[in-house]
Amino acid sequence: MVVLGGGQVAQRRLPALIAAGADVHLVSPEVTPSVEAMADAGEITWHRRRYEEGDLTGAWYALIATGDTQANTLASAEAERHRVWCVRSDDADEATAWTPATGHSEGVTIAVLTTDARGRDPRHTAAIRDAVVEGLRDGTLVAPHHRTRTPGVALVGGGPGDPDLITVRGRRLLAEADVVIADRLGPRDLLAELPPHVEVIDAAKIPYGRYMAQEAINNALIEHAKQGKSVVRLKGGDPYVFGRGMEELQALAEVGIPCTVVPGISSSISVPSAAGIPVTHRGVAHEFTVVSGHVAPDDERSLVDWPSLARLTGTLVILMGVDKIGKIAETLVAHGKPADTPVALVQEGTTAAQRRVDATLATVAETVRAEDVKPPAVIVIGEVVKVGPTTAATSE
Ligand SMILES: C[S@@+](CC[C@H](N)C(=O)[O-])C[C@H]1O[C@@H](n2cnc3c(N)ncnc32)[C@H](O)[C@@H]1O
Repeated sequence: MVVLGGGQVAQRRLPALIAAGADVHLVSPEVTPSVEAMADAGEITWHRRRYEEGDLTGAWYALIATGDTQANTLASAEAERHRVWCVRSDDADEATAWTPATGHSEGVTIAVLTTDARGRDPRHTAAIRDAVVEGLRDGTLVAPHHRTRTPGVALVGGGPGDPDLITVRGRRLLAEADVVIADRLGPRDLLAELPPHVEVIDAAKIPYGRYMAQEAINNALIEHAKQGKSVVRLKGGDPYVFGRGMEELQALAEVGIPCTVVPGISSSISVPSAAGIPVTHRGVAHEFTVVSGHVAPDDERSLVDWPSLARLTGTLVILMGVDKIGKIAETLVAHGKPADTPVALVQEGTTAAQRRVDATLATVAETVRAEDVKPPAVIVIGEVVKVGPTTAATSE
């Protein structure tokens, strides 16, 4: 295909053409830096000159988008002579093809086109496209499947709690589920929006009898999937960050049940962020380490090398650490971390109940008691806690 012009119109249209596998020849003396990058990467062939008669020979499709109306008219006439479909960015009435506003959902492309030339309103068509795609994704627009869906399990990372912080894919799978097995953490508000036929199971309430709680959850996933249902296992944050996601995937794989994993926004980054704390900041922290604090440093089950963590200069993010923070702070200080290192505890981050409590390693145990900080909370240790909108970065 031939594209005439290398400005904003070409820049916007090219990625979809390249993705579709088009052999794109772009003719223009100048192009935007993004278009130039596509030419440099070999994604398009750039002919660095003005349009010339004959450029459309052998093309199937032409996008005419130069700033020169006379050249556009000549090129349009050539397209007509050679029977080449031709899109005109400057004059849709003179075109023989039009570019619809497109979007994708569940492997389907939605394309919206205005048929009434006088009422052509690209913003309106884009808005209709957005409404349809968004509706299909979040389940407010229901288009039932008539072919049977593949039953199986989706392990969906639901994000830290705010229902807006689940991924688009997670939200769509939730809208399509027959059964949802949900953790206490994560976007529980979304469960209230599910249609009445969806069975919602609280993972914490599955009776486990002679099994471990996790085994009982695995069994529930297997049982429902074997009944041919679409099961969503909705987890807080990301399924693989202290989420036992791989254990569930392994249990399903053992019995041959297909499982898809949808990553989620982990609380380890998003909860500090929601409380105004960047886990890295230029000139302050070049690393952040995420640690589970569910067992104390002196517990023989601990797999964390606390003395090494005490020597790091970056940010330490501790999950599941509220109960053990006294011991943790003590250990870090004993191994050389300054006692005045700032600490922030962010409880129920991204929800309406979010609160942030600040302390230092020396005071954190007492502060947690005095302020009655309760799980779930993310604990951030390091100088980034003091960085705010008015702090200037000092150096690389
Ligand atoms: C079992 S871990 C699961 C982590 C999760 N997979 C993730 O990626 O965020 C649970 C811990 O995550 C942290 N957490 C999760 N959601 C939180 C939230 N909204 N506010 C504060 N802490 C949260 C707490 O430290 C909590 O004890």
